[in-house]
Amino acid sequence: MKLASVTPAEGKDRTYSVAVGNGALEYLPELLAKKKYTKIALVTEPTVRKLFAHELARVLGTGVSLEVFEVPSGESAKTVEVLQSLWRSYSDMRFDRSSLSLHLGGGALGDIAGFAAATFQRGIDYIQIPTTLLAQVDASIGGKLAINFGGAKNQVGVVRQPQAVVADTALLSSLSLRDFRSGVSEMIKHGIILSSHHFEALEEKALDSSDQEALERLVFESIELKASVVAADPEEADLRKVLNAGHTFGHAFESLAFDMNIPLLHGEAVSIGLIAEAKLACLRGLLPVECFERIEKCVERQGLPTRLSFEFDLDKLFDLLLRDKKNRNNQIRWVLPKKIGDTERDVICSREEIEAASRYVCK
Ligand SMILES: NC(=O)c1ccc[n+]([C@@H]2O[C@H](COP(=O)([O-])OP(=O)(O)OC[C@H]3O[C@@H](n4cnc5c(N)ncnc54)[C@H](O)[C@@H]3O)[C@@H](O)[C@H]2O)c1
Ligand SMILES: [Zn+2]
Repeated sequence: MKLASVTPAEGKDRTYSVAVGNGALEYLPELLAKKKYTKIALVTEPTVRKLFAHELARVLGTGVSLEVFEVPSGESAKTVEVLQSLWRSYSDMRFDRSSLSLHLGGGALGDIAGFAAATFQRGIDYIQIPTTLLAQVDASIGGKLAINFGGAKNQVGVVRQPQAVVADTALLSSLSLRDFRSGVSEMIKHGIILSSHHFEALEEKALDSSDQEALERLVFESIELKASVVAADPEEADLRKVLNAGHTFGHAFESLAFDMNIPLLHGEAVSIGLIAEAKLACLRGLLPVECFERIEKCVERQGLPTRLSFEFDLDKLFDLLLRDKKNRNNQIRWVLPKKIGDTERDVICSREEIEAASRYVCK
């Protein structure tokens, strides 16, 4: 097991630990012992509960009693109704500012449970125990918490950091291959925007959930990369924009697929988005062709899609791109790679360039 730490920019006193690796769950009792909590909740969802609740209870031992609150699996948990049901559960069980909430599940569970804990009585302590690769390397780090509202993803949210994060890579072995790869996509992104060293490891060999040694090393690296951005700016001003690489196209592709009822996971949309944006960077002469080719090969090597499986209307795509949160004055602001490990922010591209890049991933 390795220990990373996250120091959010708003204050060094808010530094928290991230236990990473095979068996990291065993570190939980030590984290709990740091404060005297009167009550502890376990917020989880049915799939994950069946797989790991027993193991978690074993690790905590008989001295710790948990109130278990269950919410639906996946994206359907991120609603106002589920949020209310969690507030109700905290309230019924007399949770207060000396209580703790443990969140066992993927990124969706982490978002809804984190939002509930961050807002109940203006915020109670919570620990994220992410069980998907995407949640370990991305969603559980940085304290961003959101629910979906009015048909839009992550429309209402708060930023509040956890007390700690426990990312046990052994929990990833039960993930479906698609869900596992979806998380690898965010790791490739971290490499492209921040670290050629991280990228090189991913372009060399497909990550495999049974290779715990490689997984522990690379998940740790990826968490440290995300933490470096959170340390620079947690409120998503300038530097934090780099985390949106691949996501300007990616979010638009995700919405197009959703509207057409075509199953496309977030990480899959991001992998195609990374390629489309690398193409865009290449067309502008910002990124050398050989770097573009390495990005495409790396996505392929990790078994992620490089092309969309459907056709779409270009006006619809532009409509979606213009809704991106980074835009200003109705202009799409791109975060584009200029080499492996570095980006240029706030790039403005012509409609022709954007069309050409999107056509490239449409084969
Ligand atoms: N807060 C943030 O900064 C942030 C960042 C990125 C993504 N997100 C959010 O994260 C969510 C996506 O997260 P996700 O990809 O983890 O999806 P998810 O939470 O929906 O989980 C995917 C599926 O995997 C199952 N599952 C979870 N752990 C498992 C395990 N160990 N073994 C077998 N099955 C398991 C779940 O039941 C679910 O069906 C989105 O809602 C997204 O908005 C948040
Ligand atoms: Zn993402």
